[in-house]
Amino acid sequence: MTRTIYVNGCYQPYNNALLHVEDRATLFADAVYEVVEVKAGKLVDQDAHLERLERSLSEIKLVTDFSIKTIPFIIRESIRRNRVKNGYVYIQVSRGSGQRDFIFPSANETPATLIIFARSKNPLKLDEKSKKGIKVITHPDLRWKRPDIKTTGLLASVLARQTAIEQGAEEAWLYNEDKFITEGAASNAWIVTKQNELITHPANQSILKGITREGVIRLTKELDLTYIERPFTIEEANDAKEAFITAATNLVMPVTQIDEKSVYDGKSGPISLKLREIFHEFAQISY
Ligand SMILES: Cc1ncc(COP(=O)(O)O)c(C=O)c1O
Repeated sequence: MTRTIYVNGCYQPYNNALLHVEDRATLFADAVYEVVEVKAGKLVDQDAHLERLERSLSEIKLVTDFSIKTIPFIIRESIRRNRVKNGYVYIQVSRGSGQRDFIFPSANETPATLIIFARSKNPLKLDEKSKKGIKVITHPDLRWKRPDIKTTGLLASVLARQTAIEQGAEEAWLYNEDKFITEGAASNAWIVTKQNELITHPANQSILKGITREGVIRLTKELDLTYIERPFTIEEANDAKEAFITAATNLVMPVTQIDEKSVYDGKSGPISLKLREIFHEFAQISY
């Protein structure tokens, strides 16, 4: 089966799918994106992801010549053509292509570029990983001051994640100048205190307001857990009973090691595992 990728109105074979050299995504990272989980052929929290996409577009003042309402149809077709049962869909919108110029091109002359692709991922591998938990490293948050906008300008996150991998970890927890953890390179960061309080950074301009994070907040109410939105320090994280990350690509993933220290007894925590287990029951599932 040949994989296909949607680029500006056409489903193209994977190896032929082309973007213009002067697309503003490549020149300026003048683009925003979303990643939506596909589970058993269905989409998880698609509406919330598309709402966030609209917000990102609005924050970077990108006016598209197509309606966001058409995207679910393309998503569905991409899943069908690529026979994705479990995996994710990637959606990217850039401010089009044209002569390299910092000034916005006119939306009439330069239509936005829309790319959508669907990719399979084995969910069992992630479930297996969640039993053992993952290691994260702490790393300075070197990103721009608006990580709440989901843009493709991800170099600082790429470098942080790469450093994590080189140190035998899976994610980097980014800390700001005051040594508070903001979030992961591509995930939100959480701890569970010894008093069983779930703590995560407030969804202000310093972090991306994760859709999975929102789902977990809803679950805390279902499970009668105390949830507090406030920044936490590296020391607090080292002293936590549990830690975990959230992202559409790995849901709730327990963290069992931060730098060289084990989190509590070094095992995946029961609250993290419970949240992971029931996450989809309370998510919005669309076909
Ligand atoms: C910086 C950052 N924070 C948080 C998240 C988690 O967001 P979501 O749960 O919507 O996938 C991501 C996901 O890519 C991310 O890149």
